[in-house]
This record gives sequence, C-alpha cells and structure tokens, in this order.
Amino acid sequence: MDSKVYELMNDQIKHEFYSAYMYLSMSAFCETENLPGFASWLKVQAAEEQEHALKFYEHLLDRGQKVNLKAIEQPPVKFASVKEVFEQVYAHEQKVTALINNIYMAALEAKDAASQIFLQWFITEQVEEEKNSSAILDMVTKLGSSVGGLYQLDHQLGKRKGD
Ligand code: FEO
Repeated sequence: MDSKVYELMNDQIKHEFYSAYMYLSMSAFCETENLPGFASWLKVQAAEEQEHALKFYEHLLDRGQKVNLKAIEQPPVKFASVKEVFEQVYAHEQKVTALINNIYMAALEAKDAASQIFLQWFITEQVEEEKNSSAILDMVTKLGSSVGGLYQLDHQLGKRKGD
C-alpha cells in the first residue's frame, strides 16, 4: 500500500475517534442544559463516528497493514450555547470532508483502486453529515431566543435512532 495513503488512513482513525469524543462532550453539555433530544442526537452521532473509525481500522487490516493508534486530543468542554455547539459541528464536518477528500486524492495519485472504492462511502457520507449539521444550525439560528421553539426542536432531534 502506498505510504502516503497508509499514513492518511491511519491518522483518519484518530480523527474519527476525535469526532466521537467531541460529539460526546457536546452531548454531555446538552444534558446539563436540559436538552435531552439534542444530547441524544449527538450521542447517536458519536456512536456513528466510532463506526467510521473502525471502517478505516478494518480496511487497513484487510489490506495487510499495521494499525498504529495515535493519541486523541481533548475535545472542547465548554460551550456558550447550543448554537455554538452546532456552529462547531458544522465547521468540524467541513474539516472532515477536506480530510476525506485529501485521502481520496492521494489514493487517485497512488492508483490505489481498492482505497478509492472504499472511500466512496465516506465521500457520500460527508455530503449527509454537512447537510444535517448545517440544517440543524440553520434551525437553531432561526429560533433565536425562542425557548418554545428550542424545546420543539429538541423533541424532534430526540427521535433520531442509531443505525
Ligand atoms: Fe465521520 Fe462526521 O464524519
């Protein structure tokens, strides 16, 4: 396997686990704000991120590569509001999209067809991830200081189930 594609994929395991850690931290914040629906949505998201990490982990092992797990940074723990949380979620997903695209470009350069096919799932997934987080950010922004609206949205988000 091309060494650049390998390094980027090995690092991506850490990035996906970091995403899980960050969303769990945000989930805990929402619990303390008495927004259980937001908290639950973020917890489901955190679980999905762990699955993303494991997809890279398994792909490397399937290709006969070593997995070198790296240290995961501390995520943010303080947030001013749920709006700030979703500003960060959306910005984070945009960063992850750039990381995935970068791995894909490296796989193209390396003529690594198996990695290109593997990464297609993530490219599609990132379109969803950005769409969902930007939609929630938009709703939270429009609600402004409407507490009633926020509780309604909280109820709606609480319906999200894991896969
Ligand atoms: Fe694993 Fe939210 O992207």
